Amino acid sequence: MSLHLLIPAAGEGARLGSDLPKALVPLAGRPLLSFTVSAFESIPFLRSVVLARPGREAAFSSVVGRRHPVRTGGSTRAESVALGIAALDPGPRDLVVIHDAARPFVTAEEIGRVIDAADQCGAAIAVIPVADTLKQWDGEWILGTLDRERIVAAATPQVFRAEVLRRALEAPPGTDEAARCEAAGIQVAAVPVSRLAFKITYPEDLAIAEAIARNLTPLPPLHVERGNVEDR
Ligand code: CTP
Ligand code: MG
Repeated sequence: MSLHLLIPAAGEGARLGSDLPKALVPLAGRPLLSFTVSAFESIPFLRSVVLARPGREAAFSSVVGRRHPVRTGGSTRAESVALGIAALDPGPRDLVVIHDAARPFVTAEEIGRVIDAADQCGAAIAVIPVADTLKQWDGEWILGTLDRERIVAAATPQVFRAEVLRRALEAPPGTDEAARCEAAGIQVAAVPVSRLAFKITYPEDLAIAEAIARNLTPLPPLHVERGNVEDR
């Protein structure tokens, strides 16, 4: 069994409203995508691919370096994932790890747990417990309260045995690959991860991400002139 990594990064980030594609937006002075690929550094992948915004392939390549080939993404996330799978061409028993570029703070330990679950069951996804009480509404009025214990937020990584993923992708596109497994009657294991695996979507998410990124990145050493120190 080999591991393959597929990072859909081709979105424009319309809800973020930045001029740059979302994956290239700076966090603590580094492109968002560089944080995301760092999380996977210690994991031995046979092949990997980053799906780039069409026309921005060179900029994406300079962020991920030689470690991850960059391919042109599609016009939807599902299309980008399909292009990535075609490029990776995994064997039927291989595992494909799909991770949104827009979730830069997932940890290697969490990725490992989702991989282990998928290795056992064929399909597993990271989930984030929901903190708020959840309401149904009609856009104006509250209609009811959902049972929070029975709800989690779907995150990534989403990891699948390639033969399972190929079967799931015969179902109509959903917002993630797990939805297509559900539609195809394939059981998906849920692996709880930290709320730091959140997806950067809106401008306020970027403000939170900036604070987290500054905490992760060691600050550059203060440049203090020798003479200045001795003078004090
Ligand atoms: N994605 C992709 N190809 C697309 C659309 C999305 O590879 N055509 C990727 C994004 O780059 C992101 C992930 O799928 O890493 C999740 O998508 P989302 O958070 O919706 O990002 P965007 O589509 O960029 O944002 P928006 O929907 O606000 O435009
Ligand atoms: Mg989108």
